[in-house]
Amino acid sequence: MPVQADGQWWQHAVFYQVYVRSFADSDGDGIGDLDGIRSRLGYLELLGVDALWLTPFFTSPMADHGYDVADPRDVDPVFGDLAKFDLLVAEAHERGIRVTIDLVPNHTSDQHPWFVAAVEAGPGSPERDRYWFRPGAYPPNNWTSIFGGPAWSQLPDGDWYLHLFAPEQPDLNWANPEVAADLERTLRFWLDRGVDGFRIDVAHGMAKPESLPDMDPSVREGSGLLHDNAVDPRFDNDGVHEVHRMIRKVLDGYPDTMAVGEIWVKGDDRFARYLRPDELHLGFNFRLVDADFDADAVRLAIESSMHAAADSTPTWTLSNHDVVRHVTRYGDGDLGLRRARAMTLVEFALPGALYIYNGEELGLPTVELPEWALQDPMWKRSGHTKRGRDGSRIPVPWEGTEPPYGFSTTANTWLPMPLEWAPLTVEAQLEDEDSTLSLYRHAIELRKTHPAFAGTEVEWYGAPAGCFAFRRRGGGLICALNTSPAPVPVPPGEVLLASEPLVDGQLPPDAAVWLV
Ligand code: GLC
Repeated sequence: MPVQADGQWWQHAVFYQVYVRSFADSDGDGIGDLDGIRSRLGYLELLGVDALWLTPFFTSPMADHGYDVADPRDVDPVFGDLAKFDLLVAEAHERGIRVTIDLVPNHTSDQHPWFVAAVEAGPGSPERDRYWFRPGAYPPNNWTSIFGGPAWSQLPDGDWYLHLFAPEQPDLNWANPEVAADLERTLRFWLDRGVDGFRIDVAHGMAKPESLPDMDPSVREGSGLLHDNAVDPRFDNDGVHEVHRMIRKVLDGYPDTMAVGEIWVKGDDRFARYLRPDELHLGFNFRLVDADFDADAVRLAIESSMHAAADSTPTWTLSNHDVVRHVTRYGDGDLGLRRARAMTLVEFALPGALYIYNGEELGLPTVELPEWALQDPMWKRSGHTKRGRDGSRIPVPWEGTEPPYGFSTTANTWLPMPLEWAPLTVEAQLEDEDSTLSLYRHAIELRKTHPAFAGTEVEWYGAPAGCFAFRRRGGGLICALNTSPAPVPVPPGEVLLASEPLVDGQLPPDAAVWLV
């Protein structure tokens, strides 16, 4: 059924993150593209997702695989063109799937015309005021880049410029009004083409203190992409909220649209500030990503997320293109997969919005790639001390028994695909009732149609050590998780779905169950 008008759709939506490079390749260059996504919309409809989040497909030299944007209002030829984007949106809407896209307001590419002009115009020029340029014999302060090394690079004319990520990603100066005006143009450009919303990259990043104070060196030590910042002058400055208010104002003029922010901040109260009624609709928090497979840790993550979103809508996610996939985080081989399946039921039982990362519905692990294959700037910039994120970005296996498994027509895919993925393809799992793909399909179907999922509050039951059970107040769904080494009795009720078969009526270790 085509997309229906609904101002609140995002409050309970199942979003599906498409890492565009790795989803489906239509033209045989080994890199995924927009036509590839369009050719797989039938699969996404079958899976039952409500909306897509497409990672950046804009014009880019790809120093950070698209998160370095040279033209935010055009499509990179590697991925297609604007006409192909329009077709994708139209067909997705026809199938009842909304389309949201990435927005990268913290920085541009060093090939963006603004930065090229700034380099050319020289020190003290108005062109340099759109970024953070400073003169001096030394870097202006001790800030480090999230990808490793100093956050400042020097031009031959002596000026330093700020980049919280790679040197090819100069940070914009949001105190310059042209920067906000340009983002507004970008928002309207895509909204007028029919997009349903945006995912805002580094939503805690844009504003910086004019005085550029040093960071606390102890923060420098632990800083990585996933750092839950303590006092860190690089992030979560109050000025950032003005940016979100501007974005919201624009979105409010387009019915049924939304924005979700990537927000890494310290503490629930700081987080909640991004979700005030005139700011973002949703915020990714990474508490479930950070939690071990342990009932107490998971419960704490859930309670804290719900507390942070008490006046808004919680948003759940277990994996994305920046982190180790949850199958791999939870343990080796079958153990990791069992636990991942259990956590899927926990996540899908919760009220709010949730995000699936492409391939997690197939139980894909993070792969340890050979060093020659690695491309992530994080790997390069860290002096090869961190493995980077490529292992979680391997192309999706669709069908067949060997690479590229229907992803492309060339086996020379941008990241190599493992030889042992034949049992993980969509084709291999689609008709298998016990597959992870079938578990996702059933879970999404129930979540969308079963009355037990009504209501926005949960209440917790007493449970044996290493276990928890909560109930959706309202609909009455019960979800129980067992992270202990022994089977446990389940709460009374009829089984709706289980991540593993119950044994003599008991919930086995590393499993979860839904009851009504
Ligand atoms: C976000 C993206 C990540 C990117 C970074 C810089 O954290 O998720 O992939 O490298 O921003 O844009």
